[in-house]
Amino acid sequence: MSSQTLVLQLRKLSALLVASGLLLSLNIAAANAADDPARGEKLSQTCLGCHGAPGLRNPGPVYNIPMIGGQHKDYIVVSLKAYKDKSRSHGTMQAQAANLSDQDMADIGAFFAAMDGNSRPSNVNAAKAAAGQQESAVCQACHGATGDGDNTIYPKLSGQYESYLVQALKDYRSGARQNAIMAGFAGPLSIDQIEKLAAWFASQQGGLSAPQSEIFK
Ligand code: HEC
Ligand code: HEC
Repeated sequence: MSSQTLVLQLRKLSALLVASGLLLSLNIAAANAADDPARGEKLSQTCLGCHGAPGLRNPGPVYNIPMIGGQHKDYIVVSLKAYKDKSRSHGTMQAQAANLSDQDMADIGAFFAAMDGNSRPSNVNAAKAAAGQQESAVCQACHGATGDGDNTIYPKLSGQYESYLVQALKDYRSGARQNAIMAGFAGPLSIDQIEKLAAWFASQQGGLSAPQSEIFK
């Protein structure tokens, strides 16, 4: 067999394995297996109970459960890994992520990322948001001018719930969420600055959604 034929045979074999799901159960080449949003949807039924319905709140501390529809896939995977390895402190999300494999996370991420997001600007205090825009210059390199950046390892912030953005920034600041980059940027912020920044990004048109209408219609 020429090496070219061999490559072709291997390609066919791996396509077959992916199609039959065998690659996953053999647990080889998981990193190369194509993401499967349809499988991600099946794995996400519990998640949608919280992330699917707009406006649901975390019981305590009280803040809106983040919209993850339309969020970058790479960031969804990174954040799920952080709950799994407990570098993010939220107990319920730690439990949700505990049994997810890397491939599960990739498929779930692909499912949510593919959703059309059209997060409407939250109704925030306009003066606060304007002050937040001034503060946000340093954030723009990674998150984009309005928080709708294209770099997939940085989360989209625009149109995200104001109360959730406040909570996330407080958690990077306190270390309840451990991330070296964001610890550096959130660490020096006052509560006042955090609230202004959250108001600014929440007030921007974004690409996120809590896709209730898609599921419950
Ligand atoms: C009981 C409600 C609930 C369920 C069920 C739930 N989540 Fe969450 N999720 C939350 C809350 C609350 C947060 C914010 C946690 C924090 O403050 O770190 C969150 C955070 C996240 C984040 C981080 C978002 C961001 O912008 O950083 C991702 C991704 C996520 N959840 C995915 C999932 C997936 C996938 C499932 C299902 C396997 C799931 N969640 C199930 C409530 C829930
Ligand atoms: C050098 C790049 C960089 C800069 C600059 C930066 N961030 Fe981030 N930001 C990140 C990364 C990376 C994450 C994801 C961290 C993680 O995995 O938890 C993140 C996460 C966040 C989150 C969590 C969003 C969510 O959905 O949970 C918020 C809020 C945030 N950043 C706000 C800011 C603000 C406000 C500034 C400016 C003061 C800022 N960031 C500056 C890289 C950056």
